[in-house]
Amino acid sequence: MAHEQEKEAAARASLRFVKNGQIVGLGTGSTAACFIQLLGELVKKGLQVRAIPSSDRSAEQAAGLGIPLTTLNEFPEIDVTVDGADEFDSQMRLIKGGGGALLREKIVASATKQYVIIADASKRVPVLGKFPLPVEVIKFAQPVVERKIRTLGAQVDVRRDSAGKPYLTDENNYILDCRFGQISDPASLARELSDMPGVVEHGLFIGMANLVLLAQGNEIVELRGQ
Ligand code: A5P
Repeated sequence: MAHEQEKEAAARASLRFVKNGQIVGLGTGSTAACFIQLLGELVKKGLQVRAIPSSDRSAEQAAGLGIPLTTLNEFPEIDVTVDGADEFDSQMRLIKGGGGALLREKIVASATKQYVIIADASKRVPVLGKFPLPVEVIKFAQPVVERKIRTLGAQVDVRRDSAGKPYLTDENNYILDCRFGQISDPASLARELSDMPGVVEHGLFIGMANLVLLAQGNEIVELRGQ
């Protein structure tokens, strides 16, 4: 089954975790976009939810579909969030941020009671690191952080937009895409990155996912965490 169909199947499987009256966190990326589309269809049929988007892109999509939006100011606790991932391993540790929204995604995830990841079969890896790890940095700190991450052994590229300019996140920061190769100890790397002044956030999501819905061909595999 093509990845596109698997994304849609995983998104469809996540709908049963969304209940009437809930506050719903919206992820970012092509898989999360499938979920937002399907959620919009349920809202048109009468489902009552309020959504908190993790990016301007997802906010725009949701608003266009008539999904009522709210904010963390109104609701600092979110019932359920559905998001995609760039990679996950058997311990449900994730790499996120390929779509550039890792900072708000992590904040939304941290405010969420049930954090559901939807993924096609290509996202499951034995060891994290096939996908370059995105690290969001403030502009001023970019050369310093870039140098420090290189000394940890990674190849580092400043992410660029289609015009060749440094890509800007919704929070107006840069992203460094860091190729570490296999990340044998994600928790310790996460700590090292978080300790670097100027790093706003990194794309390692550890101990956050409660459930991964993995579409594998015609099957949905459920992996459960804490
Ligand atoms: C956005 O910043 C990312 O974290 C996405 O959730 C992740 O990159 C997965 O994207 P796709 O669903 O497009 O693969």
